[in-house]
Amino acid sequence: MAPWGARSGRAERADQYLPTPEPDLDNASVGTMNLTHQSANQQRVVDGQPRHLLELRSVSKAFDAGSQSDSERRVLHEIDLNLSIGEFVSIIGPSGCGKSTLLNVISGLDEEFSGEISYSGAPGSRLGQISYMQQKDLLLPWRTVLDNAALGLELRGVSHADSRARASERLGQFGLEEYSGAYPAQLSGGMRQRVALLRATLPDTPLLLLDEPFGALDALTRSEMHIWLVGLLADTGKSVVLVTHDVDEAILLSDHVYVMKRDPGVIDSQFDVVIGDRTDPGVVTSDAFTALKAQLLAALRSGGTVGVSS
Ligand SMILES: Nc1ncnc2c1ncn2[C@@H]1O[C@H](COP(=O)(O)OP(=O)(O)OP(=O)(O)O)[C@@H](O)[C@H]1O
Ligand SMILES: [Mg+2]
Repeated sequence: MAPWGARSGRAERADQYLPTPEPDLDNASVGTMNLTHQSANQQRVVDGQPRHLLELRSVSKAFDAGSQSDSERRVLHEIDLNLSIGEFVSIIGPSGCGKSTLLNVISGLDEEFSGEISYSGAPGSRLGQISYMQQKDLLLPWRTVLDNAALGLELRGVSHADSRARASERLGQFGLEEYSGAYPAQLSGGMRQRVALLRATLPDTPLLLLDEPFGALDALTRSEMHIWLVGLLADTGKSVVLVTHDVDEAILLSDHVYVMKRDPGVIDSQFDVVIGDRTDPGVVTSDAFTALKAQLLAALRSGGTVGVSS
């Protein structure tokens, strides 16, 4: 099987987000492979269309080191990253290397950074244009499961009734049908995570950011959610940036895997995923899969592995 981004369903539906006749998948993939060596003046628009859905150029960020010190703590350092339409990329790296910070910056929630980010070919505010499932599920305790799931649509201007109706259609797929009227405090961690994932995937946005979305799920539910997510992407042409500590998950879902190191957080290496038929349960024991996994684990080890599961 071809990489996810090159599969027919993903590419076919990409035009619903951008007026692109057909994404140039060859160029797109080359662009991503060169992520650490792009010119800052690289053309963003080719023939009137965005070259990439998302481009990061030299993105750096520092936090205040605390009241005892005047200095700043560099968390992200000169991050370059390209994401083409329909691509799925994962970011792995040790705890504290800046993965969530990077997603906060990409989403537009955190605007205090240096460098450039362009989305759909244009710099500027991205807030509200990108769906983002944060590491904390951020469910509103006074809203039911259904109303929490519907919130992402409501915030984008869909009526309360329509938002509820669209969320309600999906509750069954997420194993939440019987909990429609339950409140977050009545849910397990895995159930809360599924509500947050449903909320993030409902809006019709071209880019989905997922910060450890499956961490609290049991193995079977996690596998079901993987299949569901891949199906959603095939149907909609969405692009995804996934943060995960699970190396197998990163390989199974992604076109490319980026490995971060910490202090400061940099993208240290990038791997293209070419593993054959991902729908074959045996793929995880294939030579290609195990070789790539070994490479990723070695890359993680060289940068510290705290919080990474193999
Ligand atoms: N609001 C903040 N103020 C100060 N420091 C922060 C803030 N948010 C994050 N940091 C620091 O930035 C660094 C990166 O944090 P971040 O949450 O991005 O890491 P992470 O890679 O997502 O880790 P994990 O895998 O544990 O979720 C950490 O050292 C953290 O303490
Ligand atoms: Mg994090």
